[in-house]
Amino acid sequence: MKKILVVGAGTMGSGISMWFAQQNISVQLFDIDQDFLQSSINRCHQLWEKLLAKGKFSSDDLEMFKCNLQPLNDLKSADSETDLVIEAIVEKLKPKVEVFNTLHEILKGHCIFATNTSGLSVQEIKKSLPLNRQKNFIGLHFFNPATIMKLVEIVTTVDQKEIASNLKTFFDKSGKVPVRCQDRPGFICNRIARNFYGEAFRYAETFNKEIFLSIDHIMREVGGFRMGPFELMDLIGIDINLAATTNVWEGFECDPRFAPHVIQQEMVKSGKLGNKNGEGFLNKEKLEVSPFTDMAYRTQVITCLSEKINDSTELVIELSTSSIEKKVNFYKVLQSKKVKVISDLSTYSKESFELLLKHLDGSIAYKFQNNNKVEVLLKKDDEKILSAIHQSLDITPVAHIHPHGHIFPRIISMIFNEAKIAEDEKLASSDDLDLAMRFGLNYPQGPLAWLKSFELNDLKKVLRNLPSYNKLESASRYCLAEVFNEGK
Ligand SMILES: NC(=O)c1ccc[n+]([C@@H]2O[C@H](COP(=O)([O-])OP(=O)(O)OC[C@H]3O[C@@H](n4cnc5c(N)ncnc54)[C@H](O)[C@@H]3O)[C@@H](O)[C@H]2O)c1
Repeated sequence: MKKILVVGAGTMGSGISMWFAQQNISVQLFDIDQDFLQSSINRCHQLWEKLLAKGKFSSDDLEMFKCNLQPLNDLKSADSETDLVIEAIVEKLKPKVEVFNTLHEILKGHCIFATNTSGLSVQEIKKSLPLNRQKNFIGLHFFNPATIMKLVEIVTTVDQKEIASNLKTFFDKSGKVPVRCQDRPGFICNRIARNFYGEAFRYAETFNKEIFLSIDHIMREVGGFRMGPFELMDLIGIDINLAATTNVWEGFECDPRFAPHVIQQEMVKSGKLGNKNGEGFLNKEKLEVSPFTDMAYRTQVITCLSEKINDSTELVIELSTSSIEKKVNFYKVLQSKKVKVISDLSTYSKESFELLLKHLDGSIAYKFQNNNKVEVLLKKDDEKILSAIHQSLDITPVAHIHPHGHIFPRIISMIFNEAKIAEDEKLASSDDLDLAMRFGLNYPQGPLAWLKSFELNDLKKVLRNLPSYNKLESASRYCLAEVFNEGK
């Protein structure tokens, strides 16, 4: 590949152009707004100069990059020898189709036409092009900032194996992480990530900043995500996130598992869009991890209810598989002796959870520990319980006080479930699904590899016990967890 043309000099078009220029490929950049085009080129130069000052490359490199990136003032003057066009203009079908049809008249037959659309159907754009161009039409979905984010989703329709494979080889060699996927709403990342936000909203139920802070804290500290869903929505823009959700939801025929939540709709309606206008869910507030005290209860960890409880024991961590009835009787005895008890309620239904929690001081999502960290739900602040967990189980507890259930098991199970459904649909290969989530959205692990560190049965139980499960099942398109039921 020697020459490319990028149409649209906004956030994505300028980043994509910079990346190609850095690969020593000649780039023509066009925008309908000529003043904006020049200021965009100037911004690219300034960014490079900053990187030069930081020693990221030499001044010879800088000259080469600048020389490779040239403004194009009239689309009709595009270089007819261009090998690849990447369209990154406004997210609307009609202007995109117009751009491609104009370029079809100018560019030679070998030139690949690619759209960077996030939300439109690649097939929909493709079918509006002349037949002899359609075979060279593809989706190339870059992530922002395109110079830094490694992922490129190569979105193919039919008969494009060769182009896709050539582009994959090119991106592989150039240090990007290309993945191939089918043309389905949200492609890979925007689709599988939906429940990172959606399940967080369903957990919170109503606007409650304390709960938002806890969800973010748990997803960062236990899940290992760089940001929690609410701070991330504030950063992306609540309106942008809602648009992506609505797009995927509509693309899946309004399947309830992708439904936009009333909380986000209300935020956008009232003009609260996140960090960009200073009115978001959290406005950059976040909970910090506090150090443990040295003080801990004298603790016994038991896996069988018949184990003898010592007279000196102050806290029992009960991890048995006994029936609910037996557990309740056991807790009642301990309660009468003023011994504190916590158990793992992470996989119980709402009713059983509520029944058991009445007799407990908290719940530890022991089955959902991740990176040696575990979510602990307390009925009230009690640092000595946290220290006791740390000392007795050699695991780091991360606590919150929202007695309507565990957070991490719910959100992560929904993400795994979506990744499984996508794998089943052959949206992409399993490896590509995982790579996409790691390199497009910085997930700590790819979901399909990650879910192997949990018991499938525990994931199934969490999914079946979600408050939304029956609603989703009645929608009869997807039965959550049924993918797992097939024994995969
Ligand atoms: N912003 C992101 O994070 C992101 C990520 C991946 C993909 N995308 C997709 O990339 C595309 C561009 O998004 P963006 O965020 O860069 O938008 P943007 O608003 O920053 O830039 C769009 C640019 O296109 C120009 N433009 C509009 N109509 C044009 C036309 N007919 N011909 C030439 N130029 C035209 C505008 O003047 C503007 O400079 C969209 O399809 C979007 O869905 C965006």
